[in-house]
Amino acid sequence: PRVVRIGLLGLGTVGAGVVKSLKTNHQPIFEKTGCDVQVVRTLVRDPDKERVVRLDREALTTDGLEIVRDPSIDIVIEVIGGIEPARTLIREALRHGKHVISANKELIAKDEGALIAYAEKHGLRLMYEASVGGGIPIVRMVETYLTANRVYAIRGILNGTCNYILTRMEEDGQSFAEALRDAQSLGYAEADPESDVEGFDTAYKLSILANLAFSVPSSVAAIDRFGITKLQSDDLSLAARVGCTIKLIGEARVLEDGTVLQSVTPRMIPRADSLASVRDVFNAVTITADVVGELSFMGRGAGELPTASAIIEDLTEILRSPVPRVRRDQYRHTVSVSKS
Ligand code: NDP
Ligand code: HSE
Repeated sequence: PRVVRIGLLGLGTVGAGVVKSLKTNHQPIFEKTGCDVQVVRTLVRDPDKERVVRLDREALTTDGLEIVRDPSIDIVIEVIGGIEPARTLIREALRHGKHVISANKELIAKDEGALIAYAEKHGLRLMYEASVGGGIPIVRMVETYLTANRVYAIRGILNGTCNYILTRMEEDGQSFAEALRDAQSLGYAEADPESDVEGFDTAYKLSILANLAFSVPSSVAAIDRFGITKLQSDDLSLAARVGCTIKLIGEARVLEDGTVLQSVTPRMIPRADSLASVRDVFNAVTITADVVGELSFMGRGAGELPTASAIIEDLTEILRSPVPRVRRDQYRHTVSVSKS
């Protein structure tokens, strides 16, 4: 079999999920790709930390450049998060001829396509399925599947931590702080959970989807954004009394004049709306397009294994087709900076 050598940047929640899944599902991955996938070197901050996944001490390093410049490594998976050193390491990996997979929505959204263009210029793939919707294959679907369509709207629940918190506050009467602590201990929250609860994480994901679906530049600054920190249990009880629940909704839609409005805000959702039944860490996204109509997707939006699933999908896609897809070079719509 062809041996594929992986350099893993980060061994936290998602990195551990990748190592576990590649081990437990080594056989089906081999059967589907013909490749023996091996994680050979892993970047961590603290090599002496107690970990759920134990790797040989020699396989760990605190020097990311050692991994991305290693000529024996074929593919780099970035799951450290944040802008730096992630951006530098990804760029350096591409410069050294390696395909890259990243779960880093903040970087992909804020980078505005520069790393993707750099990868394409070098004939390499930079894949980021895990950056949106955890295990839901929504990035690939929007990117490759809607060729026959003009997409008009994207609407959904895109943050597992917020949805988990709102569900626990509503169903168990937990406080916001208790529910957030639980979401953190389950590995759903970002290293800085402000990104989740203030709506930034949803905004990054929405801008990634809007970029793919509407051919607009990703522009986080143009998103009208509110988080869930001001909500109290009483607000959820009040919503329940009028037959509603409250969800943090990300929405992007194209107006008649071609501009795109994007918002992230808690909304009252009637019980009859399918989004009302999306509980705990689940995410859901509905795409509205002219030919196909409405398409909805639901699945676990965070957590080690669903996210690892999306990363391994990217890995198998690279193994099947290592040549980058041709990028659209013209934007079809403009982003409105006016608030919705
Ligand atoms: P964690 O905080 O659990 O893990 C981060 C890992 O990266 C740790 O192993 C840490 O090392 C290492 N690391 C962080 N900074 C550095 C640095 N400067 N130098 C070397 N190593 C570093 O994060 P997650 O696994 O939760 O998330 C990783 C990425 O995946 C983020 O971009 C996140 O947004 C994204 N993501 C997360 C999901 C989730 O459910 N958690 C779902 C989808 C995407 P050490 O262990 O030594 O501290
Ligand atoms: N913190 C993110 C969430 C992880 O809760 O949705 C998945 O992107």
